[in-house]
Amino acid sequence: MSVADAVATRRSVRAYLSRPVPRREVEEILALASRTASNSNTQPWHVHVVTGRTKRRLAESICRALDAGGGVAPEYPYQPGEWCEPLRGRRRSFGDRLYRSVLGVAPDDHGGRLAHHRRNYDFFGAPVGLILTTARRALAGGLLDAGAFLQAIMLLARERGLDSCPQASFLDFHPILRRQLRIPDHQIVVCGLALGFADRTHRLDRLRTEREPFDSFTTFHD
Ligand SMILES: Cc1cc2nc3c(=O)[nH]c(=O)nc-3n(C[C@H](O)[C@H](O)[C@H](O)COP(=O)(O)O)c2cc1C
Repeated sequence: MSVADAVATRRSVRAYLSRPVPRREVEEILALASRTASNSNTQPWHVHVVTGRTKRRLAESICRALDAGGGVAPEYPYQPGEWCEPLRGRRRSFGDRLYRSVLGVAPDDHGGRLAHHRRNYDFFGAPVGLILTTARRALAGGLLDAGAFLQAIMLLARERGLDSCPQASFLDFHPILRRQLRIPDHQIVVCGLALGFADRTHRLDRLRTEREPFDSFTTFHD
């Protein structure tokens, strides 16, 4: 698969087969992803690979906390309290597509929305979950580097016929992640990533997202 094909076919997959992902594949992906550029080659990232019992225990604990009233503030401001245009409109149209068109959940159906949201914490049924952290003291640069590292993982996964979904939803539950995965204080949680083989028969597999044309976000300065 070419890099262009990996980029073009990557999408956030939210339904997986139970087919296992061999540990060797995960190791190879991470070893290659470590070639990602970072600030002065600081390589601030760390990856926690969760499978089996650990993954189940994590999902149970987070869902219990969710049911008891939700999570806590993320360790870094992932998103604004209030969105501005045109981001607000794009976000709304993505939400409409996911909930209304694909899942058939009405905007005021909070139970339906929560039921889908909960599935984040089981990594949407993927056999492998990654929790990505970065050095707290590397500040925003550490997050930027970790983001580039995340993209490398997603593209390398595509090359092997695997799919993925980045997951900021884990941010609200960082104390649980920290406790169960023994994440040291000097690292902050960046996001989760589901990794596995897509279930192409699931209705969520119909979800496709659009992009703005490149000339709407590009300025050439000659
Ligand atoms: C850092 C990051 C965090 C995300 N968090 C979530 C998440 O918690 N749950 C989810 O279902 N999708 C999440 N997404 C996926 C986005 O919704 C998705 O990338 C976007 O809608 C574009 O769709 P595509 O990835 O299929 O091209 C996240 C994406 C990124 C980059």
